[in-house]
Amino acid sequence: MEQTLILLKPDALQRGLVGSILSRFENKGLKIVGLKMFHMAKEKSKEHYSHLVDKPFYHDLEKFMTHHPVIAMVIEGKEAVEVVRLIVGPTNASKAPAGSIRGDFSNSTSRNVIHASDSKETAKNEITRFFKPEELFSYAFKNEDYLKASDE
Ligand code: PPS
Repeated sequence: MEQTLILLKPDALQRGLVGSILSRFENKGLKIVGLKMFHMAKEKSKEHYSHLVDKPFYHDLEKFMTHHPVIAMVIEGKEAVEVVRLIVGPTNASKAPAGSIRGDFSNSTSRNVIHASDSKETAKNEITRFFKPEELFSYAFKNEDYLKASDE
């Protein structure tokens, strides 16, 4: 089973969207196997957004992500990386389709409520960045049986 990383950004928490966002992944048949709330350290932000540190908006991005609590989640399921990206929608929420999380909850690129790993390789690195192995869990999830019955 594939795993991917989600960050619920401070705007998701401040706007009370956490439950609405979580339920979309569960409803799809994806399993939450890790979840925590924390303040991201500046060093962690620089590591996570290392490809963006030279961009003019990085200072605002770092301040936003480190001055308020965020929620990190590891989500597991069939083709989890791609499926989660589809549920999340594109980075620029103004262009995100209705029905996607960003399409329904944001109209902005910088305050787009959620981050999701963009490839299997990135997902592995991002999960390791935010979770220790003992912070990930294994448990029965009835939705998995439902999906197996129809796919295999
Ligand atoms: S790239 O290089 O544009 O493809 O980068 P990407 O990783 O896809 O997304 C950029 C992340 O930076 C956040 N951010 C902004 N992007 C563009 N413009 C502005 N002004 C800006 N401010 C913040 C954006 O929300 C993306 O965050 P993540 O967490 O990756 O969704």
